[in-house]
Amino acid sequence: MRKLAIYGAGGHGRVVADTASLLGWQEIVFYDESWPQHQKNSIWPVVGNYEKLLVNLASYDGVIVAFGDCVVRLEKTRELASLRAPIISLVHPMAFVSANATLGLGSVVFAGAVINVEAQVGEASIINTGATVDHDCIIGPGVHVCPGANISGGVEVGESSWIGVGSCVRHGIKIGANVMVGAGAVIVKDVPDGATMISVLASQIHS
Ligand SMILES: CC(C)(COP(=O)(O)OP(=O)(O)OC[C@H]1O[C@@H](n2cnc3c(N)ncnc32)[C@H](O)[C@@H]1OP(=O)(O)O)[C@@H](O)C(=O)NCCC(=O)NCCS
Repeated sequence: MRKLAIYGAGGHGRVVADTASLLGWQEIVFYDESWPQHQKNSIWPVVGNYEKLLVNLASYDGVIVAFGDCVVRLEKTRELASLRAPIISLVHPMAFVSANATLGLGSVVFAGAVINVEAQVGEASIINTGATVDHDCIIGPGVHVCPGANISGGVEVGESSWIGVGSCVRHGIKIGANVMVGAGAVIVKDVPDGATMISVLASQIHS
């Protein structure tokens, strides 16, 4: 029986568990700092906190970190990998990842998402429901491309940035690290590290 431990028992963790279950992981358990108060996450048990996970690491075939916070997810994935945890990635059976794209360890690709040819996605990233990452993009570690966001070809996104739900990024743009792209934003210029970006500013430029 293949056993999977998920660290982070929130809503994102539930989608990770559901995806893992579709992919044939038979025994799925959560670890979270809210244990022992919190004993279940949907149908899956919460069996301990981080300390307990470290003690039990050897008994799992797979381990994945499922915090929504990009910095924490990346940090904990790296820490567990350095302790030789068997970190896995998950691609939902209804997602498309090109055979000529790369996906880092600890990353997840959810239903309806597309990662196109020659794109590179770093470790501990989330390519969420229906999001697209087009050809030749370089998506850094710990990035979250939220549901329905569209990233055009050749875009670079720095470490731990958040590409908000339904946003869209023009081809060839460079987005820095720790950037927050707001829900529905349209990005047509490079974005510096740490910036928060909002709005769709369409205006007439030709008659
Ligand atoms: C951009 C964002 C980070 C700003 O969050 P915040 O700093 O807490 O900002 P607030 O909610 O206090 O809003 C500040 C102002 O910006 C506006 N605003 C916030 N987000 C906006 C957005 N995405 N587009 C346009 N305006 C926005 C608010 O209406 C508010 O305007 P007001 O001052 O006129 O009332 C956040 O709203 C957002 O869009 N996050 C992305 C969420 C997401 O992708 N979730 C997916 C989960 S899987």
